[in-house]
This record gives sequence, C-alpha cells and structure tokens, in this order.
Amino acid sequence: MCGIIGIVGVKPVASLLIDGLKRLEYRGYDSAGIATLEGGKLARRRAPGKLFNLEKLVDEQPIGGTIGIGHTRWATHGAPSENNAHPHATAEVAIVHNGIIENFRELKRELEAAGRVFTSDTDTEIVAHLVSLYIGQGMSPRHAAATAFKRLQGAFSLVLMFSGVEDLLIGARRGTPLAVGVGTGEMYLASDAIALAPYTSSICYLADGDWVEITRDGFKVYDVDDQPVERAVRQSHVTGAMIGKGNFSHFMQKEIYEQTEALTDTLNAFVHPSTGHIALPEMDVDFASLSRITIIACGTAYLAGFVAKYWLERIARIPVEIDIASEFRYREAPLPEKGLALFISQSGETLDTLEALRYCRRQGQYILSIVNVPESTIARESDSVLYTLAGPEIGVASTKAFTTQLSVLACLAIAIARARKTVSTEDENRLALALRDAPSRIAQVLHLEEQVRDLTRRFTDVRDVLYLGRGSSYPIALEGALKLKEISYIHAEGYAAGELKHGPIALIDESVPVVVVAPHDALFEKVASNVQEVAARGGRIILISDKKGIETIGSLATATLEMPEIDGFVAPILYAVPVQLLAYHTAVHKGTDVDQPRNLAKSVTVE
Ligand code: F6R
Repeated sequence: MCGIIGIVGVKPVASLLIDGLKRLEYRGYDSAGIATLEGGKLARRRAPGKLFNLEKLVDEQPIGGTIGIGHTRWATHGAPSENNAHPHATAEVAIVHNGIIENFRELKRELEAAGRVFTSDTDTEIVAHLVSLYIGQGMSPRHAAATAFKRLQGAFSLVLMFSGVEDLLIGARRGTPLAVGVGTGEMYLASDAIALAPYTSSICYLADGDWVEITRDGFKVYDVDDQPVERAVRQSHVTGAMIGKGNFSHFMQKEIYEQTEALTDTLNAFVHPSTGHIALPEMDVDFASLSRITIIACGTAYLAGFVAKYWLERIARIPVEIDIASEFRYREAPLPEKGLALFISQSGETLDTLEALRYCRRQGQYILSIVNVPESTIARESDSVLYTLAGPEIGVASTKAFTTQLSVLACLAIAIARARKTVSTEDENRLALALRDAPSRIAQVLHLEEQVRDLTRRFTDVRDVLYLGRGSSYPIALEGALKLKEISYIHAEGYAAGELKHGPIALIDESVPVVVVAPHDALFEKVASNVQEVAARGGRIILISDKKGIETIGSLATATLEMPEIDGFVAPILYAVPVQLLAYHTAVHKGTDVDQPRNLAKSVTVE
C-alpha cells in the first residue's frame, strides 16, 4: 500500500526522495508526491499516476532543500488525482500518511466549523489541519503533533514536516509500520527498510503507538503516553543488490527463479544437516494434545494454508479449519480449548490477518505464524514464528513467498505428525527426503520456461481461463487462476475438478482454455474422468502432469507441460511453478505491468 519516506539530510533531498519512492513502488500506488523546505518554506510537487510523472514535474519545476518527505499513494478516500496525492499541507505543516483515519468525518466537521477549508477528498488532510489548528493556538510543533495523534482513530503511520523548522521530522506509528533509518549526519523515516537500503542499514522499527522526532543528529522515540522510550537499532539484511532485477526482465521472473535458493535456505533452517531429520524450533505447545488447527491468511498465503490443510489432515490426522482473514475476523467463530491458530503472511502486516490473530489470542489460542519479514507486527505478536527465508519479494504477485510458505508448512505437518505418532519412521523419512529434494526439482521445472512462453502466445486473446485440480492440487489451481487474474487481467477461475459438473462445465467451449493441474497421484484417475468431460465438450486442455499422466490422457490435451516425477506430497510445491510461469508469460505477451499490476498493493494494511 502507500509508501512513505522522510529525510533530514545535508544534500539536496528532492532526487533522494524520488529514489526512495522508486524502491517503494512495489507496494502498489496510483499517485505520488514530495515536499521539501526551501529556505524554510514548504514546497510541494504532486502528480497522479506513476513516478515518472512526478519525476518529470520535478525536472520542469525543481524544488530545493535538504529536508523533505515523499509518498506513493494507493487511493482509499478519493480518486488518484493530484489534489488527493500526498503530501497534504497547510501553511504550517506537510504530512504523508499510510492507512486510514477512521474518525476523519467527525474531525472534518469540527475543523470545518473552526473555519478550515479542505482541498482534497482524503482522510489525511484533516491531520494537517488539526496540527495547524493546534500550532495556531500556540503549541510547539512537537506538542501539536502529539496532541493531534491522540485524537486519531484507525491504523496508520504518519510523517510530518513543519514550515520554518529545518531540523525536525515527526513520525508516528499506529498499526502500519514505520522505521527510522540512522545515518551519519542524516536521518530517515520510511515505511520499510527497502526504501532506505542504499542510505543506511541501521534501522529502528517503531513499536505500535510510538511516535518519534528525528533531527540530523539523532532521534527520540516516545510511547503512546508521550514518555521517552528506547527502541533498539538493528542491522537490516536488505541490500541494494537484493532489490535489483539483475539480468531478469521483471522482479516476478527473478523471484520465480530465486525459488530454488529461497527453498534451500528456508528448508536448511528446519532440516538437521547430518540426519536430514525435520526439527522445528522449541515451542511452548504440545502438538500431541492439540484439538484443532485454525489456519487464517489472505490471498496467496491463504492458498498455501489450504494446501497445508490437506497435508495436516492426511498425515497428522488433526482437524484443520481454514478461512480468509477478512471473513474469519468478523464471524465470531468459537475456538476450541487447546487449539492452535496458524497465520501465514509474507509481509507480516496484512491488517485483516493481524486482527484475526488478535481475535484468536483473545480466544486463548496458541498463536503460531509463518512470516517472511522478521520485524513485522504479526511476527512480534505471535507466540512462535517460523520464518520463510525468501528475502525481499518485490513483485506484487507472490511467488517465492508462496513456495517457501509451502515448504515451512510441509515441515510443520511432518513435525506434528511425528508428535502425534500418525506417521511411521519410514514414511517420515520418505516425506522429508522428497521435501529436501524439492529445490533441485524446481530447478528442473524452470527448464519449462521456453515451452510456457510459446504456449502463452495463444492465451493473450482469451477472455476466460479455467484451472482445475483435485486434492492438494486444487489450491494450486486456485493459485494459478489468482496469478493469471492479477497480472494479466484475464478472468480466471480455479475449481475443484470434481465440482465442474455442478455448474462451471456450462462455460466450456473451444474459446475457454482449461489448465489442468494433475500429478499422477492417487486421485489421478478421477481427474482423468473430469478431463474426458471437458474434452467431450470441445474444451482446450492444457495439461500439467508427469510422464505417466501425459501418457494416459495427454492425447486429450491441446498442450502438455511435462513435470518431473515426484512424491505426491511435494507436488503442490513443484506444480506452483508452471502456473506462475503461465501467468507471467501471458502478462508479458499482453504487455501489462507485471510487477505493479493495476489497483494492487503488496502489503494490504487497510481492511
Ligand atoms: C497474490 C498476493 C496476495 C497476498 C495477500 C497476503 O499474488 O500476493 O494475494 O498473498 O495480499 O499478503 P501477505 O502474505 O503479505 O499477508
């Protein structure tokens, strides 16, 4: 979602702000802006659309100054126009904001009654007016900001810069992240460490409710009661190289290729180097006596959880419930004693997932999370965390985060099965071996890329695509459809293959490609019957299967993608890769914005 950067520096800051915003582009946005202090006076440039519009504007109408704030906006309140773009400003203060001020209507009425005139449709502008009002009443910028923060409801982060105050930025964090970057003679604020990677790796993550003042010489953090507090400065592992595209055309393509390494790193954390035995970090929970696991997540992370439901129920013989966070958090689900709630999130900041976590904590569940960003709120609020070591994922469409989530979930399923004695040692060894073998198998699957590229030339003019799968391949069918929708804008649906004849089969004709995810596993014959049903109605089948599967029903397909033969347990991890490639190359042929698809944001910090 929105990206924030603030710099109190020594060099002209406008181009540094824009560079920082470029590194935040991946979060998703539809307008951008910067403000600086030029000789103490607020100067501001804002533009709708992509950052090059802002860059062009700043080239034509440059602004100077060594202190400034910048923002990429993902529209919530009001269209992505110049007027609604941040920074919002009054004569006294300029503000950038991520999140939502929930009580903005009532504050706006109050401020309008006090004679304040608004120029945008945003919730953000009320913060600028509120702070201005307090400054007008004689408060110092610090006092005005701290007083205003207490009046705001919702989840947000904010950075404020004050007219005539050349050595101060104030930031606040409630709900959505904000980090302080510590430089030498320069200080920074940003919504994540990625924006600051070339400037500093010394990062202090604010805790929820904190606010901070930064000057060229340092920073002071205050808690929600305005008491000074110490927050640790850590070294961020995010480097400039990690957030470059290397030789790849897009971040998404690079991240698809990084899966071999990301899976290896992630698995190494859970696999004993000499015995090959799967071992999880110590947790204060007894897997053997668990009554139920409730898995909650959003989007692709939810689909990773959906695969895990199949694994956990089959090998660990434990009841698993799974739901999307936005539904779960409001349905007041009764949760059992001795229940474990499992949250999956790449960013660790998805608001619905976080609120669902808080609900489960109130219900006395043990909170376990699978997260990619260690400093994230979900990681901090969990009883135990299993980290995916995917590294920064910049492409909006999740790829390496998904397969690393699956690999952690597979380790978890094996560990729980062992604790519950539902798996024999022989089977456990077989599953663990198949899992350890997955990264090298992914490397083999990546060789299909040329074939996929050719195949997707036929996809670009289609209006709808169906994806079918059964068992643990069903969530992969859903994931394939989600990937295609989000980056190529082609309508796609994933279905459980057996459900086809209960409705969706009516859609089948020669214009609708049907992608079938069908490893030759225990359910293969069932899927084969469903494929026959599609073929009989003239459907164009793209079959993703292994040698045996293709030998059996390949003749019914218009195209086949041959996967390596693997243990059915790890098939979902491997079969995720061709559906990623299908979506990627379809989008490339169509010429859509692969890494920053329209309307989408990487980390969804609003409801
Ligand atoms: C799809 C995608 C999203 C995310 C979802 C959850 O490609 O990336 O569906 O999976 O927004 O995000 P996290 O994992 O950060 O909670």
